[in-house]
Amino acid sequence: MTDDDVLVARRDGWVDITLNRAGAANALSVGLVRGLRAALSGLLAGDDSPRGVSLTGAGAKAFCAGADLKERRGMSLEETRAFLRELNATFDLLASLPVPTVAVMQGAAFGGGLELALACDFRLAVDTAEMGLTEVRLGIIPGAGGTQRLARTIGLPRAKELILTGRRIRADIALGYGLVHAVAAADALPALVAQWKAELGAGAPLAVAQAKHALEAGFDRTLAEGLAGERDAYARVLVSEDRNEGLAAFAEKRPPVWKGR
Ligand code: COA
Repeated sequence: MTDDDVLVARRDGWVDITLNRAGAANALSVGLVRGLRAALSGLLAGDDSPRGVSLTGAGAKAFCAGADLKERRGMSLEETRAFLRELNATFDLLASLPVPTVAVMQGAAFGGGLELALACDFRLAVDTAEMGLTEVRLGIIPGAGGTQRLARTIGLPRAKELILTGRRIRADIALGYGLVHAVAAADALPALVAQWKAELGAGAPLAVAQAKHALEAGFDRTLAEGLAGERDAYARVLVSEDRNEGLAAFAEKRPPVWKGR
């Protein structure tokens, strides 16, 4: 691992993570994945929780070209299995963060690169980006959550279409499939990201966290279980200081000042 495979910056309360292997299309090497996991673990360790996390790739070509296929050729089966465990643990950690997560796809996303984006809550893409779960064309299958998260994101029929063909699609098609949330020209992407960050930062942090938790925890459950989970999440925000602040700000016709508790 080189120290700069993953760059982490804090801006306006957000943590911006950049995959920084532009010369290798930001492919997921052992070192990069280790760096990403360390960066994500660090977020949870600190007292000062961020409003959200964004992930992007360095350079204009690729958000992330998936597994580092050059490195993979030199790995034993046991090393590959260990890598897959690390990759899955890292993406699961990302998916479990209690704050909104946004993949800013400023270039192509294939294989594990798209699986990384699928582990985020939101995907914003440059209009020229291509993406796909291309694994079957390499003799493997998506192995970092792709078969499950893609189907949950765009539905089983479309997921089968993309995964069984290994097809690469453009961002405008991905938008129509519901795979990405919004698309912009390269020069308009920063403004789009800023707008999403602002909107995702408008709500009370605890409310946003509990809403995300209720959505995620209830999704694979029965309706009754999901509704019970929602009531529990509501009970937690009901006693928060920010709930009182929201009511006071509305009455006083002023923007709320959130405390995060
Ligand atoms: N693993 C390791 N290196 C990769 C890589 C990967 N997954 N994808 C790209 N690279 C390397 C290329 O070999 C090249 O290195 P080189 O300059 O030393 O030859 C460099 O990244 C740039 O890639 P290149 O193909 O020249 O750029 P491009 O702009 O024409 O295309 C991609 C970029 C990402 C579209 C293309 O490289 C690609 O399709 N990569 C494979 C993606 C894939 O199938 N991933 C699935 C993994 S399961």
